[in-house]
Amino acid sequence: MVDLGSGGGVPALPLAEAWAETRWVLVEANGRRARFLQRAVRDLGMAERTAVVAVRAEVLGHQEAYRSRFEAVVARGFGPPAVTAECGAAFLMVGGRLLTSEPPDKREWPVERLALLGLTVEERRGAVMVLQQVAECPERFPRRAPAKRPLF
Ligand SMILES: C[S@@+](CC[C@H](N)C(=O)[O-])C[C@H]1O[C@@H](n2cnc3c(N)ncnc32)[C@H](O)[C@@H]1O
Repeated sequence: MVDLGSGGGVPALPLAEAWAETRWVLVEANGRRARFLQRAVRDLGMAERTAVVAVRAEVLGHQEAYRSRFEAVVARGFGPPAVTAECGAAFLMVGGRLLTSEPPDKREWPVERLALLGLTVEERRGAVMVLQQVAECPERFPRRAPAKRPLF
C-alpha cells in the first residue's frame, strides 16, 4: 500500500497497525515530517514492512520500483481530487484501488477524465471515495505539476 502525503502518518499508521499483513510506502515530500514518520515507524515496530520515502509523489510515481506495483493507494488531505487521482494512478497495478477521504461537498469525479488515468469510480462510502485502476496508467502521468492544469 502507498499513503500519499502521509504527514503525521494518517491514514497509513493506524491502518498498518490494524492490518498486520500489509506492507507500506509512506510518501512524504517534507523532510521534517518524513523524519518524524521514520521515527514513528521504528517506535511502532513496523520498520520491516513500512518504508518512508521523502520524494514528491509526481517524481516517485515514475520510478520503476514504484510504478504500477501496489494493490492500494490511500490519501487524506493530499490535494484536490484531480491531483490525488493523477499521482495515485501511477502507483497502482491494474485491479488496485485508490481510497481517498474528501470533505462531503459532493465534488464530482468525472468518469471520462478519470478514464484518461485508467481509473474508474467504484463507490463512495461516506466521505471515502473508492476508485479502481482498470487499465495501466499511461506513461505521461503524473505530469510534473498536476495542480497547474488539473485534469478536472
Ligand atoms: C494536509 S497534509 C495531510 C497529512 C495526512 N495525510 C493527514 O491526513 O493528516 C498533506 C501532506 O502531503 C504532503 N504532500 C503534499 N504534496 C505532496 C507531494 N506532491 N508529494 C509528497 N508529499 C506531498 C505535505 O508535505 C503534507 O505533509
